[in-house]
Amino acid sequence: MSTADPRIAEAAAFLRERGFGGPFALAVVAGTGLGPLAEALASPRSLAYAEIPHCPVSGVTGHAGRLVAGTLAGRPVLLFQGRAHPYEHGEADAMRVPVGLVAALGAPPLLLTNAAGSLLPEAGPGSLALVTDHLNLSGMNPLIGEPSDARFVPMVNAYDPALRAGLHRAAEAAGLRLHEGVYAWFSGPSFETPAEIRMAGRLDADLVGMSTVPEVILARFFALRVAALSLVTNYAAGFTGGAPSHAETKRVAATAAADVVRLLTAWLEDFS
Ligand code: HPA
Repeated sequence: MSTADPRIAEAAAFLRERGFGGPFALAVVAGTGLGPLAEALASPRSLAYAEIPHCPVSGVTGHAGRLVAGTLAGRPVLLFQGRAHPYEHGEADAMRVPVGLVAALGAPPLLLTNAAGSLLPEAGPGSLALVTDHLNLSGMNPLIGEPSDARFVPMVNAYDPALRAGLHRAAEAAGLRLHEGVYAWFSGPSFETPAEIRMAGRLDADLVGMSTVPEVILARFFALRVAALSLVTNYAAGFTGGAPSHAETKRVAATAAADVVRLLTAWLEDFS
């Protein structure tokens, strides 16, 4: 098997039949608490993941589990409202079908969003940060078991430089500060220890989280152009007196979701 996966073909055929065939200017995966992005889409139509063949259903609160098609800044957008995480069932390729679907439905650029902890003193809770590169500290990889040579995916410039430049232009146009940094993937679901965060800092990590990295690897496997945007919901463990929590993650993400909508609107306005 290579990038051709019968599960993805079946899911794509189902979506085309239901009028979700595209073309799309952009596909977005909404991370924890960023479900409200769906409310910003005009003329939205949605399908529950549970209805889509082989589409993984997230059991995590803050992830609605719906696929929404609509427009933002007049451009057609496909939004995955919620994601499945490797920490839910131990499968690093939990998002293989959704990412493969983006490739099958015309291969628009893919923007992955996530809630993240920050190791950057200047990027506190509520900040937005573009991911420039990653550290896979999980020991997992979504392409383990992939039999073809397609598994040897290059990861240089995995976070598409042109998409990143466009997002920086959009942030400027929208008057938003956009930090950037290296994202370290810890499997979760427990949060990191302060010692793990000190280690990640020594390895040059700026952001930490429990998602996104396997999706970027899958996106490159499917030859998609991909970018990732972190919404900082907390300082990483040990930075301040408090401990990160999922409740805090959801609360802060919800308050900053409006900034993400402004950024994406400005970005899409700039699409040719
Ligand atoms: N660590 C891992 N994942 C996260 C964090 C964190 O501090 N905050 C939001 N998601």
